[in-house]
Amino acid sequence: MNELKNSGLQLYMQEGTNRIALLAPLQYDAYAIKNVDQMMNLLRNAAGLNPDERFYDVYRGIRLPEDQALLESRDYRYDITVIMDGTVNGECKKTSGHYHGYNPTRTNTYAEVYEVIEGRALYVLQRADNFDTDPQQVKISDLIFAVVEAGQAIIIPPNYGHCSINVGEGPLVFSNLAYAPCPVAYDSVKHYHGMSWYIMREEGRISAVPNPNYQDVPAPRFAKIRENPHLGIQFGHPVYNAYRENPQAFDFLGNPDPYVDEIMSMLDFKTTLEDILK
Ligand SMILES: [Fe+2]
Repeated sequence: MNELKNSGLQLYMQEGTNRIALLAPLQYDAYAIKNVDQMMNLLRNAAGLNPDERFYDVYRGIRLPEDQALLESRDYRYDITVIMDGTVNGECKKTSGHYHGYNPTRTNTYAEVYEVIEGRALYVLQRADNFDTDPQQVKISDLIFAVVEAGQAIIIPPNYGHCSINVGEGPLVFSNLAYAPCPVAYDSVKHYHGMSWYIMREEGRISAVPNPNYQDVPAPRFAKIRENPHLGIQFGHPVYNAYRENPQAFDFLGNPDPYVDEIMSMLDFKTTLEDILK
């Protein structure tokens, strides 16, 4: 058993199966497995794959009983996802990808925090303001690849569809802290068979390939992540603990409007894909 120290919780991952064990009194609401079968439509090339191969597991609603009221007071939920290691026809394993719904005034969609607990993640972030009105003809206005290392966390900026991709050597374990009532839209990404670019790994080298189903996608921008203690993000300090210590810092999750610029300023732009993978 490998202790998932960066989570700040007593969580352990079983080597081989990559399943997570929670030490009591930790609890969770639900566990779900995604196999290749459920990801077929989202891959660059699904030919010849084993439909039963495990892609990723999600543990939803993890908490200590003593923190339940604090999480419920803001309608926040803490989940952990494990993306398995390995590639499928050269493509890195990933989550399905989605857009978050708009807040009631439709000024912005909801943000979310993703914290890498173990492994290395690349997030494809694509902005399409018409994802819910025209999901089969989205206009992508900005595209960002962001790399997040173990112990770091990214705030997914409002208005950006996102997908988590395992670009490390082993499994990728990450948490998300999210505003639970936020609607989540999968249809557009499914229609296009994935996000606008696919991330590949061949002979240990990561590369990116455009998804030909999209039209007029801007060139990607490449980012590493900056911390921001004001928004509760300090590298090496678990997000779960940061929320317990200062819930108000995470106000941006349910109330994105005042925080958009500050969240965007946490992206530390570089020049090339190699720069962010160094
Ligand atoms: Fe999300």
